[in-house]
Amino acid sequence: MQINEKYLIEQAIEARSHAYTPYSHFQVGAALLTKQGKVYKGCNIENAAYTPSNCAERTAIFKAVSEGEREFAAIAIVGSMEGESNTLPTGPCGVCRQVMAEFCSLDMPVIIAKSPADYITMTLGELLPLSFGPANLHK
Ligand code: THU
Repeated sequence: MQINEKYLIEQAIEARSHAYTPYSHFQVGAALLTKQGKVYKGCNIENAAYTPSNCAERTAIFKAVSEGEREFAAIAIVGSMEGESNTLPTGPCGVCRQVMAEFCSLDMPVIIAKSPADYITMTLGELLPLSFGPANLHK
């Protein structure tokens, strides 16, 4: 399917505006595109006890899966410190890569963006080589 990277990055930037980051002050937004063309957005949500914090990517994935979605075409991610524009390419953390591997194919594009005009795309398989996933358990 045709992926509009710029639109997806704009959606991730919008999602980032809702980030709840009183501890790290690092704000992340993600936009997850389903194969049907719907976009689920997520931001990071931190917690005073730290470990219950949730990354933007997992927020988007869990929102989508909890609405019955299982087929994903791409995800865009943007991140930067509070008050700054998208200056840092923010690759997904290891936990988020693993969660992606549960629901997304290894050839799915992950768009790591600084802005709608400045981004790199890598496949999930490139970001998570030799991954352990559902296939290992014959699922
Ligand atoms: N974070 C994300 O939301 N996604 C990433 O890919 C990297 C890290 C969040 C977690 C935490 O709220 C903050 O960024 C600093 O680590």
